[in-house]
Amino acid sequence: MPKFRAAVLKEFGGKFEISHVEVKPPQGFSAEVEVRAVGVCGRDLVVWKGGFRNLRPPLILGHEVFGLYRGRPVGVYPGIVGEKCKLVEPHNLCTDYMILGENTPGGYAERVYVPEWNIIELPDEEFSKYAAAVCGVATFIHASRLAGVSSGEKVLVTGASGGVAIHGIQYLASLGAEVIAYTRSQAKAEVLRSLGVNVVSSLDFYKESGRVDHVMETVGAPTINRSIRSLKPGGTLVLIGNVTGEPIVLERPALVVMREVRIVGSAAYTRDEYAEAVRIVGEGTIRPFYKEYRLESINEAYMDIVGGKVVGRAVLVV
Ligand SMILES: NC(=O)c1ccc[n+]([C@@H]2O[C@H](COP(=O)([O-])OP(=O)(O)OC[C@H]3O[C@@H](n4cnc5c(N)ncnc54)[C@H](OP(=O)(O)O)[C@@H]3O)[C@@H](O)[C@H]2O)c1
Ligand SMILES: [Zn+2]
Repeated sequence: MPKFRAAVLKEFGGKFEISHVEVKPPQGFSAEVEVRAVGVCGRDLVVWKGGFRNLRPPLILGHEVFGLYRGRPVGVYPGIVGEKCKLVEPHNLCTDYMILGENTPGGYAERVYVPEWNIIELPDEEFSKYAAAVCGVATFIHASRLAGVSSGEKVLVTGASGGVAIHGIQYLASLGAEVIAYTRSQAKAEVLRSLGVNVVSSLDFYKESGRVDHVMETVGAPTINRSIRSLKPGGTLVLIGNVTGEPIVLERPALVVMREVRIVGSAAYTRDEYAEAVRIVGEGTIRPFYKEYRLESINEAYMDIVGGKVVGRAVLVV
């Protein structure tokens, strides 16, 4: 069995341990990728805290994987789907859809094994910029299609300095949408303004920004009721994440009823959407925001994310 270095999560909420692990590649996972950079997604934080009840440590997390396959630069589409699902669009809704690094060993490691179908060629070898931005851009490609975002529409994005949103808002701006970015932090507000978007940092953003056509809700429970109030009648809220994992309670259901607001879930992205995100990031039109850490410093990276010290993505360099 192949043996290599990996950061292993032994207990939820605990420290990762760097160790040499023996990994038996799952059936059909014939492509061996040499990992060069892997992003720490907000989803990984939810898993780390124990938010996915179907998962049990020990786990090797990491689905934002970029590296070398047969000597060529590649990204790994993180959706692990069965043979039948590959032919179905959207395959992200298939019953056997899984994310790399959850039910199969992921990319916080020197190597990762995936089906060859998941391999997407990269235009260059700047692995960290892809690890920073691709998951966020692909998530927003999928979410903005679900909402039907078009040029000139107003879109509110919560958790705007996070790894998904800071890249997603740049994608929305490229569609011609007028973006309103909500962040809790004054310091991060300055960074977001440099992207040319409107920034609000009071939780009363629904009073400041006027009504919006859509909300991209990446924070969930702490902001969703304010987000719903921000919507125009007939507007759409796309629920992308719930960072604290707390139950979401509708404070004023009458607003949803009377304004015929739509609340839509957005689950990851398809392989084509991932490939589109790789192309867009490769073109250089999205500015990647990230801080690099060695794989060995993964615990420092997690503490920095929890402490709000990272703008965009923490990227582990292997
Ligand atoms: N549906 C999908 O396809 C998909 C894909 C990827 C990720 N996700 C989910 O999306 C969420 C965000 O992911 P991410 O990678 O962007 O995470 P991240 O990099 O950790 O960013 C999350 C951002 O949320 C804000 N935030 C965190 N805690 C908050 C709180 N208590 N109150 C208000 N704001 C808070 C912060 O933004 P500010 O500091 O700017 O306020 C933070 O930067 C996660 O729940 C993840 O699971 C979903
Ligand atoms: Zn991700």
